[in-house]
Amino acid sequence: MVRHLFLGTTLAALVAAVALASAWADSAGGIVPIAVSASAQETFNKQCGACHMAYPPVFLPARSWKAITSDLAHHFGEDASLDKATTKIIADYLMANAADRAPGVPAGVLRGIRPDDVPLRITDTPFWNSVHGNIPAAVIARPEVKTKSNCLGCHSGN
Ligand code: HEC
Ligand code: HEC
Repeated sequence: MVRHLFLGTTLAALVAAVALASAWADSAGGIVPIAVSASAQETFNKQCGACHMAYPPVFLPARSWKAITSDLAHHFGEDASLDKATTKIIADYLMANAADRAPGVPAGVLRGIRPDDVPLRITDTPFWNSVHGNIPAAVIARPEVKTKSNCLGCHSGN
């Protein structure tokens, strides 16, 4: 009983407390993606938001986005491939807005990623793990969340 109450309260607090965009803006002094063009951002949102949230590009370095968009046919067990032109629009958008390219990104986002590391998951980065290290596995396992990649299971907005 007490245990359920604790988890319920924790999750409610997570959902209410953390609006992804505003939490990020607070810590980063207001970073908004620089769209390569409005239509590139739209293309990204539509295609890369089809199965999960369109992850903010600022959480991975450009080389990670390059690697991800270079092999969309083998994308975490799914075929997320797109035609060549669309893939290029999205790759350019992601790289221009990446952690090591967008202006004003706090150094902490890249800390602990060695120059030859190419993380393919935001959730594998030391930064992500440093801000999420205290979340109990039981909270992540809840039906509303299911996986740590489901940012919107805990955060609102994008
Ligand atoms: C056909 C469905 C599908 C599409 C379309 C898709 N993805 Fe994914 N993506 C997945 C799955 C499945 C995972 C693994 C999720 C998990 O482990 O819970 C994933 C995971 C990811 C991750 C790692 C998330 C983490 O844990 O940090 C990134 C980054 C990512 N996708 C980027 C993209 C980009 C960029 C696009 C657009 C080019 C895209 N995805 C389109 C299915 C898709
Ligand atoms: C299981 C719930 C959960 C999931 C899933 C989750 N987060 Fe979080 N996130 C939190 C909590 C709780 C905090 C800490 C809030 C605090 O301490 O103020 C946090 C903090 C953050 C912060 C730091 C905010 C700041 O002000 O410094 C960022 C950035 C962030 N999350 C991004 C993400 C991204 C991107 C994903 C998906 C890849 C994700 N989160 C998935 C719960 C979650």
